[in-house]
Amino acid sequence: MIFWRVKSLDAILATAEKKSLDRSLGVWQLTLLGVGAIIGTGIFVLTAEAAQKAGPGMMIAFIIAGFVCAVAALCYSELSSMVPVSGSAYTYSYAVLGEFIAWMVGWALILEYSVAAGAVAVGWSGYFVGLLSNSLGIEIPFALANGPFSGGIINLPAVAICVLIVGLLVIGTRESAAFNAVLVVVKIAALTLFIALAFPVANMENFQPFLPLGTSGVVAAAASIFFAYVGFDAVSTAAEETKDPQRNIPLALIGSLGICTLFYLVVSAGAVGAVGAQPLMDAAGKGLQPGSLALAEQCQSLAAVGQQPIVCSREALAHVLREIGWEKVGNLLGLAAFLALPSVILMMLFGQTRIFFVMSRDGLLPEVLSRIHARFKTPHIVTMVTGVGVTFAAAFLPVGKLADISNSGTLFAFMVVALAVMILRVRDKNRQRPFRTPAIWLVGPLAVGGCITLFLFLPTDAKLVFPIWTGIGLIVYFLYGYRKSHVALGIDTPSGGENLIEPIRPLADYHKDTKHKKIEVDQ
Ligand code: ALA
Repeated sequence: MIFWRVKSLDAILATAEKKSLDRSLGVWQLTLLGVGAIIGTGIFVLTAEAAQKAGPGMMIAFIIAGFVCAVAALCYSELSSMVPVSGSAYTYSYAVLGEFIAWMVGWALILEYSVAAGAVAVGWSGYFVGLLSNSLGIEIPFALANGPFSGGIINLPAVAICVLIVGLLVIGTRESAAFNAVLVVVKIAALTLFIALAFPVANMENFQPFLPLGTSGVVAAAASIFFAYVGFDAVSTAAEETKDPQRNIPLALIGSLGICTLFYLVVSAGAVGAVGAQPLMDAAGKGLQPGSLALAEQCQSLAAVGQQPIVCSREALAHVLREIGWEKVGNLLGLAAFLALPSVILMMLFGQTRIFFVMSRDGLLPEVLSRIHARFKTPHIVTMVTGVGVTFAAAFLPVGKLADISNSGTLFAFMVVALAVMILRVRDKNRQRPFRTPAIWLVGPLAVGGCITLFLFLPTDAKLVFPIWTGIGLIVYFLYGYRKSHVALGIDTPSGGENLIEPIRPLADYHKDTKHKKIEVDQ
């Protein structure tokens, strides 16, 4: 039975012990790592989409999405403290729920990481185009900076940034913890500046009507804006490099999430107060769907008469500052986004390639994917394969659709982690739990329920992509992974994957400590 194909927790822990990774990350560095992975397109760009779905009520949407992430993070913390190895939700599920569910989670994580990378690339493109136009007077033709859903042909800046990041990953570029810290400071400074300038001009009238599309609009906005919190699990994937992971990982997870929630709430309040955030409606008085052609057309006709509401902006926060007379500071904020968003793409793609790598090393995906480049010591094949998919998505799909699709996979993975924690509490009561999720029988069901609710409120197309993607995954599994799985074949492979940031040793070193010799190195 595939459900019984479980990797034993003890074996995973023993492998982790054997690995001599430098445990160098402390709680602050980890929290910065989390904040670095979290703050990105969500707040800088998707604020416009959240406004289109919920109006000023988007502030509540940020709280709802933050709450669901917080309960999920508490569950993540218990598992990551018990299993302080990398590999994220995939490894946890392999140990607790067996190979079949682990496969489904790994497959869903492809949506989380790859599609999120595409979404951030499209978000970056918006800021890049705005920055060129507002600072240098260079206009990129609309049709070449927007995909077909937004009335254009192809998003070339998004393609360019994807190709660049994939190239950097292939030659082995890593973001160091120090560089990440600098970018976090840049992002935090930009958001703080935004708050400082938007609040003094806030007008209470802009908060009315507060819920133009009702409470369902708020939950729908929460389902989309959930994207703004994605990435906190990057913290748990650095477990093998963390000093005292049992204490520091949970602290950093909750800390980074708390910091981001606070900023998101205040920033969204500032945006609403400063310029208002009313959605555009169709003739029947229904809110237009973000990322739809109908909304793009209405925005274009408003632009023709010199109006650009926040819901039409592709660089929401910079737009607000320009609207309230801080043209140059708006450009500066655009510059901050321009500089900082690529690192989020890099982290997402890096995470993706390492998850593929671990799955391939476990025999669930073809071994060619875990080939290591002889000179660069990177999994170049899987990086390029992933890169092609991500680039294609970024070229043609709008940011909101990509974010929603990414959310569908992430919500599934988080739900499984919460279930895994509860199952383990029953099945393996006596195992040491350095971090115990408080009130697990409340927090766990809340996490599961929250994830399911947000999933149900995603737009229909995003909801449809998930089962189709899962269906493809099942076919791939039964045609390939089911037969080749190393657990099934009794082949011993190391558990856990490379961490997201700065692997201390090259992937090729895995060859030295695995009994499984089939992984090849390109010569
Ligand atoms: N949370 C990340 C972002 O908003 C993925 O860009």
